[in-house]
Amino acid sequence: MRLDRFISKHTEHSHQTARLLVARGRVRVNQQQVHDLRADIDRFATVTLDGEVLQENTAHYLMLHKPVGYLSATRDPCHPTVLELVAPELRPCLHIGGRLDRSTSGLLILTNDGLWSRRLTEPKLKVPKVYHLRTAAPISAETAHRFAEGIYLSYEDLTTSPAQLQQLGEREARLTIYEGRYHQVKRMFTAVGNRIVALHRERMGSIDLGEDLSSGAYRALTPIEIASVG
Ligand code: URA
Repeated sequence: MRLDRFISKHTEHSHQTARLLVARGRVRVNQQQVHDLRADIDRFATVTLDGEVLQENTAHYLMLHKPVGYLSATRDPCHPTVLELVAPELRPCLHIGGRLDRSTSGLLILTNDGLWSRRLTEPKLKVPKVYHLRTAAPISAETAHRFAEGIYLSYEDLTTSPAQLQQLGEREARLTIYEGRYHQVKRMFTAVGNRIVALHRERMGSIDLGEDLSSGAYRALTPIEIASVG
């Protein structure tokens, strides 16, 4: 929203007075005096008029190393949830960008920026999600080919985008998929007559869990990681 419209919407001042206030340098956006009436005010800008706060929203972008056994939910009567691993003051505003099953570990994104997280998870945008996995039976020779062709998911009546399987051992592989359908990796392996016994998400887009974050710990994303989405 334009700055002059923002001022008249968030105060009792008319549009005309709002313009005057901006021109006189009485409005600050993110601590800076702003004179441009058309400056864009997004939902995370801090805006003050004569020092009085009109809007103060902080954007939070976190990566969490999800342990096995935690639910990707805000609360649950039976199981611990990933939100319980985060500082209590952050919990009310955060949502999960791309859930993981209770039995899956690895990279989980928590944010209060819904537009941003949609760009990470929207299937049409085909952001790569990379999983390390182990299977119950040896991975057959045709699995990589079947995944590259796409697997038909009858419930959604769609075929998954071509996925890349890099075999690391007889029952171990790294899989890159481009959507995040419900139980997608498990269902893909079921479709080829196998079963996942361990699943760990390593990366979403260029956001990499890395080796330094221990299971259950979280950290703020860096500006470069945030900017890499979209
Ligand atoms: N695919 C699954 O089957 N489970 C997950 O948690 C993530 C992707």
